[in-house]
Amino acid sequence: MSDYRFFDRLRADAAAERRAIVAGLLANTPAIAPKHFYDSVGCALFGAICELPEYYPTRTERAIFVEHREEIAEAIGSGRQFVDLGAGDCCKAQGWLPFLAPTRYIAVDIAGDALARALARMAPEFPELEVTGIVADFTRGLDLRNDLGDAPTMFFYPGSSIGNFLPGEARRFLSDIQLHCIASEASGRSGLLIGVDTKKESRRLTAAYDDALGVTAAFNRNMLRHVNDIIASNFDPAAFAHVAFYNERQGRVEMHLAARAPQVVRIDGTSRTFATGDLIHTEYSYKYTPAEFTTLLQEAGFACVRCWQDPARDFAVYWAT
Ligand code: AVJ
Repeated sequence: MSDYRFFDRLRADAAAERRAIVAGLLANTPAIAPKHFYDSVGCALFGAICELPEYYPTRTERAIFVEHREEIAEAIGSGRQFVDLGAGDCCKAQGWLPFLAPTRYIAVDIAGDALARALARMAPEFPELEVTGIVADFTRGLDLRNDLGDAPTMFFYPGSSIGNFLPGEARRFLSDIQLHCIASEASGRSGLLIGVDTKKESRRLTAAYDDALGVTAAFNRNMLRHVNDIIASNFDPAAFAHVAFYNERQGRVEMHLAARAPQVVRIDGTSRTFATGDLIHTEYSYKYTPAEFTTLLQEAGFACVRCWQDPARDFAVYWAT
């Protein structure tokens, strides 16, 4: 019987988290942070998004991993600690384990139930591996120094989740990772394996976030249900429309929820009025050319950057040390 360790570092900030959501909703331009997509329904809908014909990132990244698996694994080296940032169902990481033979697997995610389920499934399949789950919101800063010690570490941040950060925040987050790399490489090289979506034709980018079936629309509206659960607001998800488009000037996909009719929503003892068409911002998904992202990695302190792409250059995978 294999086992795993599990730490919940989210619970402690529950009150602060509620205050942050309320402040976001009462701000001049109302917004909800994209981490609040991922309750259990949101995780399931995101899984469905990844299967959609319009949503190319997941399958394209997987194709790059499969095509270049040996070469990437050789660049990384074996026997690292494997830190999975935003582990989700842990399936992406699992594909790497036979090639990297890590000493430890540390899965970090904000969705605690899904993470516990994934590790309970996975740990018995890898009895040699020391498995740890950490429920945490690393968008507020990464601090795994006590968990990692000084053994060389491979950080894994796939799926273009880095696109949720503003570019300046992304640089700061990457430099946090880089500092962890420096601190942990006494006996071997540490680094970051990261998957990032590229800039491309506006029509394809918009379609990827506004699919014909309406799965992404449901994913976006579901956030209002999740927020109702957290702060006891009374949003009616059906009263908001999904809005998604590529903002070419900013190099990002934007998602919003637009009020379909005038309405008043109860939020934390007060209320907010929405006129028809008023927007709640829910997500940015920044896209980077390989040149832009290489520069960002270098600015974050990574001296050496390698990049792999699919033949159509729809997506990019970087190993940065
Ligand atoms: C999980 C942040 C990478 O931005 O493409 C998918 C989330 N939002 N469809 C992305 C998402 C709408 C996704 N990330």
